[in-house]
Amino acid sequence: MTHVLHRSIVHRYPIAVSGKDICIQDETGKSYIDASGGAAMSCLGHSHPAVIAAMRAQLENLEYAHTSFFTSQAAEDLADDLVAHAPLGLGHVFFVSGGSEGIEAALKIARQYFVELGQPQRRHLIARRQSYHGVTLGALAVGSRLRQRRQFHPLLIETHHVSPAYEYRERHAEETAQGYGERLAQELEDKISTLGGENVIAFIAETVVGATMGAVPAVPGYFKLVREICDRHGILLILDEVMCGIGRTGTLYACEQEKVNPDLIVIAKGLGGGFAPIGALLVHDKIFNAIAGGSGTFAHSHTYTGHPLACATALAVQRVMRRDNLLSKVRDRGVYLARRLQERFGNHPFVGDVRGRGLFQGLELVVDRRTKEPFDPGKKLHERIKQEGMARGLMVYPMGGTVDGARGDHVLLAPPFIVDGAAIDTIVERLGDAIDAATAAT
Ligand SMILES: Cc1ncc(COP(=O)(O)O)c(C=O)c1O
Repeated sequence: MTHVLHRSIVHRYPIAVSGKDICIQDETGKSYIDASGGAAMSCLGHSHPAVIAAMRAQLENLEYAHTSFFTSQAAEDLADDLVAHAPLGLGHVFFVSGGSEGIEAALKIARQYFVELGQPQRRHLIARRQSYHGVTLGALAVGSRLRQRRQFHPLLIETHHVSPAYEYRERHAEETAQGYGERLAQELEDKISTLGGENVIAFIAETVVGATMGAVPAVPGYFKLVREICDRHGILLILDEVMCGIGRTGTLYACEQEKVNPDLIVIAKGLGGGFAPIGALLVHDKIFNAIAGGSGTFAHSHTYTGHPLACATALAVQRVMRRDNLLSKVRDRGVYLARRLQERFGNHPFVGDVRGRGLFQGLELVVDRRTKEPFDPGKKLHERIKQEGMARGLMVYPMGGTVDGARGDHVLLAPPFIVDGAAIDTIVERLGDAIDAATAAT
């Protein structure tokens, strides 16, 4: 009998007792390859000595000082480091303890910006269907993971959703990728005119969609069009890079590959690499300046904002990334992972699509590759794949509801950046066996 309120009350979880490099061991001594980095967090793998040393050093000096009294060197250094490598114009950092907190802060600072500018009528937020932005009420409201959202609906602020960029299913056969991107941009434009451009605060999107669809990048040019539309109406562009940011796709920020600079960007998972709970909201200078020249205070804070241990940890993670040239490894190994996935699943009868960027790859499962018909949701194929993977010593991150929140299954892969070719071969082999076993049992 456990007193922990686990994610699933009926499921029995093995106890994780140790981690080393890309593996986690449970209490029976069984080892699991962490091919999903937990949920795209463990970018350096487990028990990284340089990160642990930095954490120890921070703890020996200062574990905590409340930010209403002090700043800390760790927070200052991390903010300097992040700003030095951030998309253009993002000159300030607000620290939080995770992704949902980062999204809440982004939504609130976006609203406050317009209040400071004397545009208090701006109150609408536009997001995309099939996105996930977290579980707190604001993040849940902009997200659209239906099963998590439905029962809380009466508590959520009003938000508006447009279509995701989901080329595999939603680009018409006769349409080019560019034409599809233009159609999506027009849908956003239409939504803004319905609401009145002067009433909209922000458009928020995951640059590469993670948990809800399984590593889905937008079609080329889409985000540039979105940026232009936002600029035309004075609307802020918020990018949620909680999962896809800070190196996972092969550039520190996924938006670098879109050649688009947002007004606000949220990062979290890979920032602390799983060693400490930390997230960050990077804020454009124009927003900072409006607040600095107005009320002088962002009306939002948490007790653990800028926690010195979390900041020192994240700084160590960033330094290891640079010292070990991990971004180029993500790019190289990402190409290898994508190739191996194509070889194993490119003609698999139940895999309709293999997609992703860098070490952020996804597979979408279908009953029929031609019609793209998803599996019966009642079969919970994604859960079976997860269990079959665990039985084979493999952690992957499958999820259901890929198509519309109810139907569809996918598997997300996000291995640590230190993964090598031999480990990738083992991951693909075990995943193939897990998918074959799970689909055979349906
Ligand atoms: C894109 C995205 N945004 C926000 C969140 C929420 O982050 P957290 O679980 O740290 O609150 C997640 C978590 O998976 C995410 O993938």
